[in-house]
Amino acid sequence: MMSRMKTLPFFHRVVLSLTLVLSVNTLWAAETVWLDQMDLGKMRQGYGKPQMNRSIRETPLTIGGRKFERGVGTHARSTLWIELGGGTERFEGFAGVDDAANGPGSVVFKVFGDGRKLWDSGVMKVGQEAREFALSTEGVKSLLLQVEDGGDGISYDHANWAEARFRVTGSSPRPVSGPREEILLLTPKPGLAPRVNGPSVTGCRPGHPFLYRIPATGARPMRYQASGLPQGLELDKETGIISGRVSMAGEYRLVLRAINEHGRSSKAFRIVCGDRLALTPPMGWNHWYAHYNRVTDRMMREAADAMITSGMADVGYQYVSIDDCWMNTAKSDDPLRVGPFRDAAGQIIPNGHFPDMKALTDFIHARGLKAGIYTSPGPTTCAGFAGSYQHEARDAKQFADWGFDFLKYDWCSYTEVTRGDSSLAALKKPYILMGEILKRQPRDIVFNLCQYGMGEVWEWGAEVGGHSWRTAGDLGFELDRIFEVAVKNIEHRQWSRPGSWNDPDYLQIGYIGAARGMGEPTPCPLTPSEQYSFMSLWCLMAAPLFYSGDMTRLDELTLSVLCNPEMIEVNQDALGQCGRLVRITDETFALIKEMEDGSHAVGLFNPGEMETSCSIRWSDLWLRPAWRARDLWRQQELGPKPEGITVPLARRGCSVVRVWHR
Ligand code: GLA
Repeated sequence: MMSRMKTLPFFHRVVLSLTLVLSVNTLWAAETVWLDQMDLGKMRQGYGKPQMNRSIRETPLTIGGRKFERGVGTHARSTLWIELGGGTERFEGFAGVDDAANGPGSVVFKVFGDGRKLWDSGVMKVGQEAREFALSTEGVKSLLLQVEDGGDGISYDHANWAEARFRVTGSSPRPVSGPREEILLLTPKPGLAPRVNGPSVTGCRPGHPFLYRIPATGARPMRYQASGLPQGLELDKETGIISGRVSMAGEYRLVLRAINEHGRSSKAFRIVCGDRLALTPPMGWNHWYAHYNRVTDRMMREAADAMITSGMADVGYQYVSIDDCWMNTAKSDDPLRVGPFRDAAGQIIPNGHFPDMKALTDFIHARGLKAGIYTSPGPTTCAGFAGSYQHEARDAKQFADWGFDFLKYDWCSYTEVTRGDSSLAALKKPYILMGEILKRQPRDIVFNLCQYGMGEVWEWGAEVGGHSWRTAGDLGFELDRIFEVAVKNIEHRQWSRPGSWNDPDYLQIGYIGAARGMGEPTPCPLTPSEQYSFMSLWCLMAAPLFYSGDMTRLDELTLSVLCNPEMIEVNQDALGQCGRLVRITDETFALIKEMEDGSHAVGLFNPGEMETSCSIRWSDLWLRPAWRARDLWRQQELGPKPEGITVPLARRGCSVVRVWHR
């Protein structure tokens, strides 16, 4: 270098020397700040807590056999927002799955700078060599470090940001909370004039008690009419509750009407009396994620009342369901829940918080709503309360006598009965048994299988008498993965049809208790956009719509998300189709659900952390041109959209459009 410099003219030599001195000075001035030195309290992750200089398993950071002295161990799905303020030149390091994961972990690391993707590792698996990154962050104000699951769930997704460091020349990088989102109330308030909501069809069995409260929004007082009622049914014109028994099997065509001083509304409705129930996805409330083992009779009554006063029943919510912990257990801090499982005659004994089950279902039925209950085919339930093993027929009869209309049958301790036999026959056995018993009851009882998807339950759930079946484990443990859980559930879309529903678990928004630790209800961790996405996915998948949050603390946002009749119409459509998925870009996808009237509901989703916009042509979704398009959340006409549509998509947000074709 010196010898070459000598050949340069004097002036150039001075400039070059100065430049060298300056850049060496800048190098000296640059400071290294390590990711592991930062306050990681702001890091959100799918499991455990962020670890400094060790893996999520608290072992030394090791990727593909190579040890790293420093770094951060995290777990997918993980996000960390860092304010750089433009004072950081570079972000560098290595990324990979920790060797101690010891299972089929796979993740994708992503780095975003001011909304632009700076790096994407691609799918990385356990055992694979660490990938190095060296990114220029000059001028970047906000950085996002993200770890997604690699497409196979988050099990074993132990992700390391190894030797991750910033070259800082200005203000120090600082972890911050994710972007805050304004509360968005998308659903317009219902008008004063009546609107009859709910499904266009319901199923029942001949001779059994029938109950249907006509769901209608609009100012009260309201009067109701129903033409074409089959023999045996009566309508209470003041409350809109239809009750009685349909004596003859057959299909009955009705017109339901609601009338008030502001106008009238009508809806064609069919009662199909035969042997099929749940012809549209069941809708209601379940206590689990709000009250866990704290549930009482009073809470159930409050929920039934709130279902009416909040307007939820006016858009179709119907079942008020008790989950686990209404029976006795052997050990509990709450003495009212401890006691014998059964009386001398073998009858199940509700615990001290449920003094009179029949009175409770009467209370629910008096409001035109239906009652749900829970048990397990094993000796005990998942929370260790009395189960139905060897008392199946007695319990089912008891549930029917008490007046329950819905049963969740939760596998739980049944593994003690199968003793390691995981054959299909063993998995089916308890459900075949209960399915047959339920069919013999003199009541219509919707049968909800809960065994977390074992043995491809969607393939045989309907055949054993089930009306819906959980397709996976508890969603409460994976609330940050609603998109991934939905995408997995959609894989079973061919089994979705009237009377046969894939159940990806409950809607957990508003006030819910953390699943880990069965917490007291607090505001849910999801952003408003995530909440609208949650509901949109469930509607487009034709999933059962069970809200599972605190019914005494329903706020405006929760009701806006839960109670949009045009979205619910998509869920309740009589075709019963689960939408099909089309990937639009790396980050976005569409869900397209065919409706009975030939129109399509199209949801566009952005599971990503950055807002974006999405342009689609109908032809790319194999749809014909749309002469009419409507934004369902906002309930606004968008006019003819012959070719396609472009919509903005918030971070983890969505847009749902219904299109009609000629
Ligand atoms: C299981 C089920 C949940 C809930 C609890 C009750 O975890 O999957 O939905 O019913 O049991 O203990």
